[in-house]
Amino acid sequence: MYVLGIETSCDETGVALYHSRQGLVAHTLHSQVDLHAPYGGIVPELASRDHIRRVVPLIRQTMNNAGVSLDRLGGIAYTAGPGLIGALLVGASIGHSLAWSLDIPVVAVHHMEGHLLAPMLETGELSPPFLALLISGGHTMLVEVRALGVYRVLGESIDDAVGEAFDKVAKMLGLGYPGGPALERLAQNGDPQRFHFPRPMTDRPGLDFSFSGLKTHVMNTIAATAKTPQDLADIARAFQDAVADTLAVKCRRALRQTGLGTLVAAGGVCANQTIRRRLAEITAEAGARLFLPRLEFCTDNGAMIAFAGCLRLSAGQQEKPAIQARARWSLETLPPIIPRSDPPHPG
Ligand code: KG4
Ligand code: ZN
Repeated sequence: MYVLGIETSCDETGVALYHSRQGLVAHTLHSQVDLHAPYGGIVPELASRDHIRRVVPLIRQTMNNAGVSLDRLGGIAYTAGPGLIGALLVGASIGHSLAWSLDIPVVAVHHMEGHLLAPMLETGELSPPFLALLISGGHTMLVEVRALGVYRVLGESIDDAVGEAFDKVAKMLGLGYPGGPALERLAQNGDPQRFHFPRPMTDRPGLDFSFSGLKTHVMNTIAATAKTPQDLADIARAFQDAVADTLAVKCRRALRQTGLGTLVAAGGVCANQTIRRRLAEITAEAGARLFLPRLEFCTDNGAMIAFAGCLRLSAGQQEKPAIQARARWSLETLPPIIPRSDPPHPG
């Protein structure tokens, strides 16, 4: 079965074609970075309007690249939340309209489920149960994946998401939007010995995170230095190391507490090489397996939505013909995915 995936939850329009047996067939992406850069952050109304402009051409381009006509689609998957409501409505509207006109099923996909299943796009060796660290611009979560579609949130950020902290600290350091990749580049020249920033909430039990205190610590450090390019690089390095260590400590604790032997880390912040390295170190020490999506599937994309949608459609799930989008949506409320026939064979 061919499934078209549509992602419009934030500042990237992603479209992909996934086949239940062949795997990922084609995918295209349009990033709105240039559109939002002059404002130093995402402007929701501009994001929605740009998704409207891009989504149909991207669907055409994806189908053309694949050499597959629309009438061969077996289903459509779109991101229904969480995210910016206007942006989500674009994907929901085109997803439902196209499915209606082609008389095929359509399924709503949870954006974070897309992220956490993304490593399965490229390997057949990953299956639940596993632990997932989800780190994006809007979320920081440790999730116990008991089975496909069965998620228990073990811990999350009580204030800023880790990507949000990267973006805000990048702004303080005079870097543009998006902050995460720019901060990582700056940190490359930083001296790791110069500053030592706190590892928030690692000295007390529990699996929740907090990044706002670390952010304030960075602000105070910037205020107390001369702000030469080297000062800024050293601060970026200390911040990135503190975040990577904090995530590593919590993942190690969660692996120990749950007894799980597999860690998946996903979401935009997982593109960060220092974080990838720290997670590789702690999983190796714990004798656990680590699965990370390749960089282009860490940040938002249509492929992960097409894949998650394919699993749900193959399990017989579909939406009623009513457009639904949710700015907030708990992962724990999703229905389980119980494979029926023709399950996807990823990897
Ligand atoms: O998953 P994603 O593409 O969108 C959301 O669902 O939010 O994540 C975007 C977040 C942004 O905060 C961005 O700054 C961060 O991921 N990010 C990074 C890196 N690449 C993207 N943070 C740190 N290092 C990176 N290399
Ligand atoms: Zn995302």
